[in-house]
Amino acid sequence: MTLTIGPAAEADERAVVYLWRACGLTVPYNDPATDFRFARGGASSEVLVARLECGRVCATAMVGHDGHRGWLYYVAVDPMLQRQGVGAEIVGAAEAWLKARGVVKAQLLVRETNTAVVAFYEKLGFEVAPRVVMAKWIDGRD
Ligand SMILES: CC(C)(COP(=O)(O)OP(=O)(O)OC[C@H]1O[C@@H](n2cnc3c(N)ncnc32)[C@H](O)[C@@H]1OP(=O)(O)O)[C@@H](O)C(=O)NCCC(=O)NCCS
Repeated sequence: MTLTIGPAAEADERAVVYLWRACGLTVPYNDPATDFRFARGGASSEVLVARLECGRVCATAMVGHDGHRGWLYYVAVDPMLQRQGVGAEIVGAAEAWLKARGVVKAQLLVRETNTAVVAFYEKLGFEVAPRVVMAKWIDGRD
């Protein structure tokens, strides 16, 4: 399988959001299209996509940094193409994106309902880092 990995185009929004839904990564409290628009081509963020030779988007990784650490979100591979090394390639591309910007550590959050995926990240050299993550909506919602 020959893949081309690079930044998503504006026109990729539909395909990317479709893939995120197909991979079970969307939740009621986040609009995936808004997430795509916010991160794509940002000052310190990007949505990377892997394309098949025909141009079809088959994998994504949203990547960004906060001036300190690098973060990965929406790591997704077309369910029909999983377990063929595509996930490792797109995560590698996200790491390269961060390294090119001087970021020395990549982090990500795994939902409690998705811990099976921990084994995938461990294969790629990630380690479980015991932390308490605290969060607050600061847009006025309850
Ligand atoms: C997680 C995901 C991105 C992995 O993509 P993939 O293309 O199947 O992964 P790869 O084929 O590159 O796998 C890389 C290595 O991890 C292993 N691996 C992949 N998924 C695994 C799993 N669920 N459990 C255990 N090992 C796994 C592979 O066997 C491979 O190991 P190897 O190098 O020894 O052969 C993909 O399954 C996916 O899109 N899942 C749904 C979305 C999701 O949960 N994303 C993560 C959000 S935190």
